[in-house]
Amino acid sequence: MSEAGPVHGPLPLTGGDPLTEDDLLQVYPWPGSGAWLRAMMVTTLDGAAAGPDQLSGSVSSPADQLVFNAVRRDADAVLIGAGTLRAEQYTPMRAKPADTARREAAGQLPAPVIAVVSRSLDLPWQLPVWRESTHRPLVLAPAGVDPGRLETAREHADVIELDRTDPEAIVGALVQRSLTRIVCEGGPRLLRDLVAADLVDEADITVSPVFAGTETSPPTPSLPRVNRFRLAHVLHGDDTLMLRYLAAGR
Ligand SMILES: NC(=O)c1ccc[n+]([C@@H]2O[C@H](COP(=O)([O-])OP(=O)(O)OC[C@H]3O[C@@H](n4cnc5c(N)ncnc54)[C@H](OP(=O)(O)O)[C@@H]3O)[C@@H](O)[C@H]2O)c1
Repeated sequence: MSEAGPVHGPLPLTGGDPLTEDDLLQVYPWPGSGAWLRAMMVTTLDGAAAGPDQLSGSVSSPADQLVFNAVRRDADAVLIGAGTLRAEQYTPMRAKPADTARREAAGQLPAPVIAVVSRSLDLPWQLPVWRESTHRPLVLAPAGVDPGRLETAREHADVIELDRTDPEAIVGALVQRSLTRIVCEGGPRLLRDLVAADLVDEADITVSPVFAGTETSPPTPSLPRVNRFRLAHVLHGDDTLMLRYLAAGR
């Protein structure tokens, strides 16, 4: 007897009015209370995280960007690894008038706080993201880093020194500051560690209709075992699939 599960018919990839960014807020809900870690990544058909230019934008699409922007709007913290900041040259995270009342009613700060994880503290301090974001950025680093680099980091951000920068400590430090709605925008190495620690509640993965080759995507160590997620929804636009998966048991 076959052990395969049932196979269903094709998803309804046609019909329905296009979703607005406000509609998208509804289909990417955050829990009313408690911490929630949502990971957002785009992948190509051949599993690349970046295009030949080493950027994710070149393998993204307007539809993916719409979802990406919508999901940020109700987040407390945007968590990224230093590699992503260095590659993607993040722009300032500013409060948006359209979100002010809703965020205030939910007891949130006016804008998400950007939180960057780094061991080296070799970060692009010239970026406006440090001085022009609504809230002072956070940098999470292990204790005992080079004092000169630490001093520079403190000029630009609130530095949280952690005994160990393991995934639990990183997420715990954000939650301790009441930043409980966390969207991790990568990159692959930080995401890999968060998944390995079973801290990712939701994986919002965009499948982009391109092949790019994986040479520019950082390789990640294998997980001790596969981590399983279940499908919550599929959106589509620009020939791109936006998949929302929830971790088993969430
Ligand atoms: N497809 C997508 O959706 C997507 C999303 C994001 C990024 N990307 C792409 O991915 C590439 C970057 O990938 P990546 O894996 O290198 O990015 P990453 O995970 O953002 O950065 C890795 C770096 O983050 C820091 N880090 C990660 N975990 C840490 C920990 N537990 N403790 C302390 N520091 C930690 C370290 O910084 P230090 O080196 O400073 O010590 C590490 O070298 C770029 O090409 C970018 O464009 C793609």
